[in-house]
Amino acid sequence: MEATTIRQLLLLVLVACSAHVVVCGSSSLDGNETDRLSLLGFKDAISLDPQQALLSWNDTTHFCNWKGVLCRVKAPHRVTSLNLTSLGLVGKISPSLGNLTFIRSLALTENTFTGEIPSSLGHLRRLQTLLLNNNTLQGRMPSFANCSKLKVSGNNITGTIPASLANITTLTMISCADNHIKGNIPSEFADLSSLEHLYVGGNQLAGRFPQAILNLSTLIGLDLGPNGLSGVVPPNIYTALHNLQILVLFGNFFLGHIPSSFTNASNLHLIDLSHNNFTGLVPTTTGKLTKLSYLNLEHNQLRADSRQDWKFLDNLGNCTKLQMLSLSNNRLSGHVPSSIGNLSNQLQQLYLAKNELSGNFPSGITNLSNLIIISLGANHLTGVVPDMIGTLKTLQLLALCKNLFTGVIPSSLSNLPRLGGLYLYSNQFIGHIPSSFGNFPMLQYLDISNNNLHGRVPMGIFKIPSIIGINLSFNNLSEQLPTDIGSAKQLVQLGLSSNKLFGDIPNTLGDCESLENIELDSNIFSGSIPTSLGNISNLKVLNISANNITGSIPTSLGNLQLLEKLDLSFNHLNGEVPTKGIFRNATAVRIDGNQGLCGGIPELHMVACFVIPSNSNRHDENLVLKVVIPIASMVSLAMVILGLSLWKRKHKCKSIALPSFAAKFPKVSFNDLARATQGFSTSNLIGRGRYSSVYQGKLVEAENEVAVKVFNLETGGAQKSFIAECNALRNVRHRNLVPILTACSSIDSNGNDFKALVYELMPQGDLHKLLYSTQDRESSSDLKFITLAQRISIVVDVADAMAYLHHNNQGTIIHCDLKPSNILLDDNMTAHVGDFGLARFKASSTMPSLGNSSSSLGALMGTIGYAAPEYAGGGQVSTAGDVYSFGVVLLKIFIRRRPTDDTFKDGLSIVKLTEISFPGRVLEIVDPELLQELEPCQETPVAMKEDGMHTLLSMLNVGLCCTKQTPGERINMQEVAAKLHRIRDD
Ligand SMILES: *[C@@H]1O[C@H](CO)[C@@H](O)[C@H](O)[C@H]1NC(C)=O
Ligand SMILES: *[C@@H]1O[C@H](CO)[C@@H](O)[C@H](O)[C@H]1NC(C)=O
Repeated sequence: MEATTIRQLLLLVLVACSAHVVVCGSSSLDGNETDRLSLLGFKDAISLDPQQALLSWNDTTHFCNWKGVLCRVKAPHRVTSLNLTSLGLVGKISPSLGNLTFIRSLALTENTFTGEIPSSLGHLRRLQTLLLNNNTLQGRMPSFANCSKLKVSGNNITGTIPASLANITTLTMISCADNHIKGNIPSEFADLSSLEHLYVGGNQLAGRFPQAILNLSTLIGLDLGPNGLSGVVPPNIYTALHNLQILVLFGNFFLGHIPSSFTNASNLHLIDLSHNNFTGLVPTTTGKLTKLSYLNLEHNQLRADSRQDWKFLDNLGNCTKLQMLSLSNNRLSGHVPSSIGNLSNQLQQLYLAKNELSGNFPSGITNLSNLIIISLGANHLTGVVPDMIGTLKTLQLLALCKNLFTGVIPSSLSNLPRLGGLYLYSNQFIGHIPSSFGNFPMLQYLDISNNNLHGRVPMGIFKIPSIIGINLSFNNLSEQLPTDIGSAKQLVQLGLSSNKLFGDIPNTLGDCESLENIELDSNIFSGSIPTSLGNISNLKVLNISANNITGSIPTSLGNLQLLEKLDLSFNHLNGEVPTKGIFRNATAVRIDGNQGLCGGIPELHMVACFVIPSNSNRHDENLVLKVVIPIASMVSLAMVILGLSLWKRKHKCKSIALPSFAAKFPKVSFNDLARATQGFSTSNLIGRGRYSSVYQGKLVEAENEVAVKVFNLETGGAQKSFIAECNALRNVRHRNLVPILTACSSIDSNGNDFKALVYELMPQGDLHKLLYSTQDRESSSDLKFITLAQRISIVVDVADAMAYLHHNNQGTIIHCDLKPSNILLDDNMTAHVGDFGLARFKASSTMPSLGNSSSSLGALMGTIGYAAPEYAGGGQVSTAGDVYSFGVVLLKIFIRRRPTDDTFKDGLSIVKLTEISFPGRVLEIVDPELLQELEPCQETPVAMKEDGMHTLLSMLNVGLCCTKQTPGERINMQEVAAKLHRIRDD
């Protein structure tokens, strides 16, 4: 929440300033006919006069009676003023106006004049006020001879500010704000000894603070923002400009401390230094400006660390006229002093958002009885919000979002007769939404999302006559939606995502004709999609994903012309997908995770609907029954067929070529490896497994560091493990497998057998470490932050590696021990599957297989928690077993538990947990860090949050497909990889 722009205020000031026009000039010898012709010339250049404003400009009346024209009273009657403001006139400004030699004031503000300002206007010796603001004029600014008030703001004027303007020493006002003027204020401006108003904001001025300005001691109003000015503001600015009343430097790159010699410019009543890089403290001298009514310091880097640093706030109590104070977006920290309650009773707007404020709600605020806006969002404020807030009867906007407020939401808020916006989202409010919230007379926006609220959606909130936006998402609200929801005729946004709402989606929702966004996803809604939703012609986004919705998709949704996004995924919908309207756009529609859908446009890659005439228990003979192949709809038909055939073939493997080991890898000796690892010292040890220890080291001839895996041959099975890994790795190369450099089979210094494998070192260590090591050693609960995108990328990498192992053209390699500690990460966070010590070949029957899959290896069946359930019963090693392990790894990546978490103590597996929580309650189980990333807040657009949610659900769904209880139900790695790629790239 930020303060509104200063420009309206300036506009008021300007209107006030242009009221007194100085009378001057001598009589002219030119005839009055010239003026008539000039005006008619002006009229000729107007191409459109929608209000017929110039109808009266005809010869039936004297030109002095024409609309907008003022003449001097004395003959000859010459035009002294032409005022054609806000008439919708379109056209060019005729150069003939340059003949109105008696004109003193020309105001063409707020029309659509195009082209350049005629240079002939520069001849008008008597022109004092030129108001051309808010048109679409272009070109350069002509030089004027005698203007005292020059206002051409809001055009497309380019070029630089003409230094020759400085010749008009009588100039009292220059306003050319909101153009495209470059350069800086000319140094000649130092001579403008009468200048009172200089408004050049909204241009492209660059360089330092214009020194010439410091000479303008007559200056009352100075507006330099926004521009590209930089450097420090001269500390003597207030001494030099001691008449200053208005100081606007907003939107530049000024830095350093805020000049504090305020006492010298005691008339200052409006200060806007916002959106700069000012550092240091807020000057305590600000409190000496007794006329101050507007102080905007937001978007700087001002700090307040100690009570002393907050002294400025105590002093601001002396500014008894203060109406607006903004310190948002700075670095103020700690408790807000209670002296805030001593601020002016005139205060209407108070902004302290986006700082580092802590402690309780600054209760002094409730003394400020004329407040209209309170903005405290995005701080670290805690405790309850006092009931007293309900006494601020003038309050129109209350923003307390993104803090740590707890307790119940004060029901006294509904006593506020003018409250229009209530933003309490992303706090820790508990309890119910006060039932009195149905009584707000003027509420427009209600956002209480992302709290811990439970109970029902209160009756009446949909009947608030002014309501436009309601967001109650990410709470624990339950029960059915009130049926009076259809009363909200002017409601535009409705967010109820991620609650526990159940029952039907009310049919009356279709009566809310203004709705543009409906988000009902991740609840427990059942029943069918109301056909009436097809009547909401303004609808742009409809998200009903992750509920228990049944039935078919109403074709009426295809009628919604403005619909941009439709998400019906993860429900129990069936029948044919419509093909009209939004359903023509495959990227705008999400329907995956519904088992029974078919048809639709080809780009949706759905199975075809087989239409057979119904002849049995149907009343309607014409009704057709659509038989659907129940298959995950996001997989293309081609992929399904491919997958099925691979599935059937997977135990039949092709022959494997086995080139000699020695030919492929460079030879290294025991001594080489001993040297590389400082004699296998413990300081080089980076991992230890069942059969081996892994050391980090540097071979003399190799460029990069390596990992040396030394097999503990005295452990039973280690020899086999070495052979298995050699066999697995000798023929495979894939970007997501750990690259093996060489192997060493030799004897050590004591004459014992020595076997080792040498890999490229993976500098980021293994996935287990990444997932479970903590940010700082002190607190075991502070896990490292891993973004959703990083997690997805790791999952896709591992799936690619596994798909390659299972389905490469050399044969099938079964890893048998896939788990996070066997997944290694390089410096780019690319994941590589390693440790093939338990790997098995599924070689073709014509080839003798080295790692015989049928051999019973008892204890070698992978790792508890990751091994497929059939392995526990001594089942055959199979690729489906790897698929299971992969599924568990995937779930662990997204449902990361802190090491201390008790969730799985009672034998509940991660697979079970996911199954019972999917999809409606997955937010309760996934890594809370991901929730933070998905949290709806000002920085994360809603669409991004939804995409994230959808991706997360799709990912977990793949995990569940991999971890089905029986091997036959699981999908294969090739399908998995294809699905994951689609999810990632969607
Ligand atoms: C001329 O101006 C008068 C008003 O002064 C207006 O009533 C009249 O319609 C105008 N005539 C034409 C032809 O536009
Ligand atoms: C122009 O001014 C002369 C006197 O200076 C007067 O007689 C004549 O009527 C005026 N014409 C118009 C159109 O005002």
